[in-house]
Amino acid sequence: MTTFPQSNLLQQLPKQFFASLVQKVHAVIAEGRDVINLGQGNPDQPTPPHIVAALQQAAANPTYHKYSPFRGYSFLKEAVATFYKREYGVTIDPEKEVAILFGGKAGLVEMPLCLVNEGDVVLVPDPGYPDYWSGVVLARARMEMMPLRAENNFLPNYEELDERVVKQAKLMFLNYPNNPTGATATESFFKETVSFAQKYGIAVVHDFAYGAIGFDGKKPVSFLQTEGAKDVGIEIYTFSKTYNMAGWRIGFAVGNESMIEAINVLQDHLYVSMFGAIQEAAAVALLQSQQCVAELVATYEARRNTFIRALKDVGWNVQAPAGSFFAWLPVPKGYTSETFADLLLNQAHVAVAPGIGFGEHGEGYVRVGLLTSEERLKEAAERIGRLQLF
Ligand SMILES: Cc1ncc(COP(=O)(O)O)c(C=O)c1O
Repeated sequence: MTTFPQSNLLQQLPKQFFASLVQKVHAVIAEGRDVINLGQGNPDQPTPPHIVAALQQAAANPTYHKYSPFRGYSFLKEAVATFYKREYGVTIDPEKEVAILFGGKAGLVEMPLCLVNEGDVVLVPDPGYPDYWSGVVLARARMEMMPLRAENNFLPNYEELDERVVKQAKLMFLNYPNNPTGATATESFFKETVSFAQKYGIAVVHDFAYGAIGFDGKKPVSFLQTEGAKDVGIEIYTFSKTYNMAGWRIGFAVGNESMIEAINVLQDHLYVSMFGAIQEAAAVALLQSQQCVAELVATYEARRNTFIRALKDVGWNVQAPAGSFFAWLPVPKGYTSETFADLLLNQAHVAVAPGIGFGEHGEGYVRVGLLTSEERLKEAAERIGRLQLF
C-alpha cells in the first residue's frame, strides 16, 4: 500500500490530547480494575422517549427519503424561533437568523472558515473547549488566548489583552455555562462583550452548549438577550446536552444575519442539509413539554451536590460549579494536572481530565464530568479520600 502523506494543513491540526487519556483508562480497565470514568463529556442518559418516538414515526415518511431542502426545513427554523422567544424572550427571524448545524462542533469549526482570512486573529478562551483551535488552524488564522482566571469567575478580562493584537482580531469564541470550569456568565459581562466587539469590529460566537444547565434556580443567560448582541454575534446551540441527543448530531446557530448567511453558504457546498426525520424530531424536542429538561437539570444538580459534599468531607477544598455538567477542581500542591490525574487513575481508579488539555491556564486543575450516578460519584470521592492527600 502506498502511504500518502497528509496535507500540510492536516498536519498542523492540534493533536487530540484526550485520546491519550482514553488509552490510559483502557489500560487500567484491562488490568481488571473497576474504573470510575469521570474524564469525558458524554451525557449518560438516553434521549427522552417522545423525541425518539417522533424520529421513529418520521423515518417512515417518504418525503424525508429525498434530499432535504439545502438550508433545512422551515418548520425546524420556526421551532428554533419559538424556542428562543419562549425561553429567552429573544425575537429571531427564522429564515435569516437561523442556520441548522450537524452538531455544535461542526458550526464551531466552520466559523473561522466563514469569517477570517489567513493571518487574522481569533480570540479563544484558555482554558477552553479544544475544538475552537481546530477551526482556527483550518482557516490558517492566528489564535490568541484569553485567560480565564478563578479570581475573575473564569470570565475573560478584555482590559488585560494586548490592544495591538485585539485590533487584528476578527472573531472570538465564548462559552457559558463553561466547559471546563462550570462558570456562568453575567448580563454585565455580555454587555461589556457587545461594547468590546463593536469597538474592535469582532464577530462573537457564543457557544451555548450547556445553556439549559444552570443550578440553584438560576437559568443561564443567553448572549442574545443582551442589547446589540445580534449586531455583533451569534449563539451556537446543540441538542446534545439539553435533550441527551449527542449521537444525533444536530444543533443550530442563531443571531447576526451576515454570520448566519456565511454558515449557510459554506454548508451549501459541504452538505445537502440533514435527514428530515431528525429535523422533525428536533422540532418536537424544542416545541413540546420541557419537563425532561427540568428533570435532567435536577439530576445533574443532585449529583453535583452529592459529589462536592463528599469531596469536602474528605478534605478537598473545592467550589461547586454554577452550571454545565462539569466540576473544575484545584490539584493539591506538588502535582501538575497530569501527574495528579495519573495518580487518581492508577491509585484510586478514578479517571479525570487534566486541565492542561484545555490550555495553559487549565494547569493546576482537573475536570470531572458529573455523568454517572450519585452512588458512583460518592464512591469516587471516597476512593480519592483514601489516598489521604488533603
Ligand atoms: C463547550 C462545548 N461546545 C460544543 C460541544 C459540541 O457539542 P455537539 O457537537 O455534540 O453539538 C461540546 C461537546 O462536548 C462542548 O463541550
